[in-house]
Amino acid sequence: MPEHPDLPDGAVPENSAELAKPSASRLDVKAIAPALAAWLTDKAGSPVTVTGIHLPDGNGMSSETVIVDAQWGGAPHPLVARVAPDPNNDPLFASYDLDNQFRLMAYVGQRTTAPVPPLYWSEPGTDIIGAPFIVMGRVDGDIPPDVLPYTFGSWLTEADEQDRRRLQHQTVHTLAAIHAAPIPVDLLPAPRAGESPLAAHVRRLTEFYRWTTRDCPGSPLLERALAWVHENLPATQDEVLCWGDARIGNVIYQDFVPAAVLDWEMATRAPRELDVAWGIALHRFFQDIAQLAGVAGLPAFWRRADVERDYEQAAGARLHDMDFYLTYATLYYAMILFRIQTRAIDFGQADEPANPDDKILNQATLAAMIAGTYWDGVGENR
Ligand SMILES: Nc1ncnc2c1ncn2[C@@H]1O[C@H](COP(=O)(O)OP(=O)(O)OP(=O)(O)O)[C@@H](O)[C@H]1O
Ligand SMILES: [Mg+2]
Repeated sequence: MPEHPDLPDGAVPENSAELAKPSASRLDVKAIAPALAAWLTDKAGSPVTVTGIHLPDGNGMSSETVIVDAQWGGAPHPLVARVAPDPNNDPLFASYDLDNQFRLMAYVGQRTTAPVPPLYWSEPGTDIIGAPFIVMGRVDGDIPPDVLPYTFGSWLTEADEQDRRRLQHQTVHTLAAIHAAPIPVDLLPAPRAGESPLAAHVRRLTEFYRWTTRDCPGSPLLERALAWVHENLPATQDEVLCWGDARIGNVIYQDFVPAAVLDWEMATRAPRELDVAWGIALHRFFQDIAQLAGVAGLPAFWRRADVERDYEQAAGARLHDMDFYLTYATLYYAMILFRIQTRAIDFGQADEPANPDDKILNQATLAAMIAGTYWDGVGENR
């Protein structure tokens, strides 16, 4: 899930959503350290000492990532634990199956050339630290930051053109490699009888919207966009293993090449276009807010036309209906932003606006996409 970016003054258009990150869901890492050490000892088969444990800066919204320094067998083991959100604490998503994510990552590691972090163990129960968690090896490298977004100035804006092109090319190839894997049907929900994989995805997004608005006012824009999606739904039965949160902010890079692909919570069976569009839509989001703030950002990076062409070459497959998928990806992200803001209101960190659409930071983009005018505004870098 994209981190909710804290933005500088001027980056956010007036009457757009206030940004707030609910802090009530944070984990007390010091309290879980002893139980974690005992569990690791059991798994490793030799005594484990936890020499350091902390939450990273700029951590995500839907689960907690914990940095753990462990020691066993006479060697240091730099680890990362991903802890499931507390279902009683107004989570971002209605349900969360971390053990399934663990098995999905293992599958990707075994069946594709896409790099995943070294996987240690998964704890599906809540007895150990109060929530399910998975443990993986910590991979060194750089991640394009969400907070502040990499477009506002980061190792990526400071890199030279050639290195950025290399990163783009290599990442697109990694995505194509994921899509080339057989679908792990036991790990991902199947469409219903007579339903296309894309229609199943739309149905689940609609269910997410109903759940999100179960006790707050609905958004006219999101409902208009959902109606647009139904009217414009491509009649395709295509499906591949989609990564879901397929964007550069979920990749650890070493020398501009993917060293680990993270964040499998949105993985799904869907047309390949969904992942390609998600990556483009999220870059456009970060680029648009940079430009609104008067920052140049990276207008020539991750350009729609370049990414689509690179992807088609890498995958040996044509992309269809990308205008639809880009609008759909923008709607999906708008729903997540709406949900995040609803949580912030529930936590008392923001007020319910008079117009529910003002909870959606990318509302202007979504409206322009539905109207078919967004890409004209992007100009030569579309
Ligand atoms: N195996 C790993 N090695 C090194 N760093 C990691 C690893 N896994 C996660 N991280 C760090 O934790 C951050 C968050 O990880 P991840 O993208 O999986 O979840 P998230 O986006 O924070 O959470 P969510 O998507 O659930 O809201 C990463 O950006 C990275 O800094
Ligand atoms: Mg992430």
